[in-house]
Amino acid sequence: MPSLDRADPVILGHILHEHHELHTLLQSVREAVEPASEAPQQPEQKQRSSRKGSLANCKPEPPAGCQRIAAALSALRDHLAEHFRQEETGGFIEESLARLPRLAAEARRVLSEHPDLLAEADRLIEQSSRGDIPATGWTTLCHDVDQFASRLLDHERRENNVVQQGYNEDLGLGDE
Ligand SMILES: [Fe+2]
Ligand SMILES: [Fe+2]
Repeated sequence: MPSLDRADPVILGHILHEHHELHTLLQSVREAVEPASEAPQQPEQKQRSSRKGSLANCKPEPPAGCQRIAAALSALRDHLAEHFRQEETGGFIEESLARLPRLAAEARRVLSEHPDLLAEADRLIEQSSRGDIPATGWTTLCHDVDQFASRLLDHERRENNVVQQGYNEDLGLGDE
């Protein structure tokens, strides 16, 4: 058990490395459901145009688009399964709780989301692997994948928040 009076550099290094890889894979998933080319926009304009709207033009369409999504999601799903397992058994969340017991409810909530996130990844992989999706199904799939990516990102943010508060360290992931 690492000392509780300092942030263990091995644990924190591991968390940083793991999450960096996860964010890279997540980015690939998001790129797989974004239009191939978008007219350059001002940052403000970009915020206003909803992702949902741009997904209607999600390119390339099936089957190439489906293959791209399935490949990106499968890589993410493989990483996620191991990532979640490590979070559940690796001890760093427990250590955060030992440092700050008031984090317990939020930590439990965050960890309890893992099975659902994996199940949603499986569902989307299964759908995108079919490759024969009609136009309406294709737009829905792109939208669902995008929602999943947002949900996962939100999960990671809240989880990092628990660890950051517990260790009182900035892990440098808050703005991703
Ligand atoms: Fe997690
Ligand atoms: Fe995580």
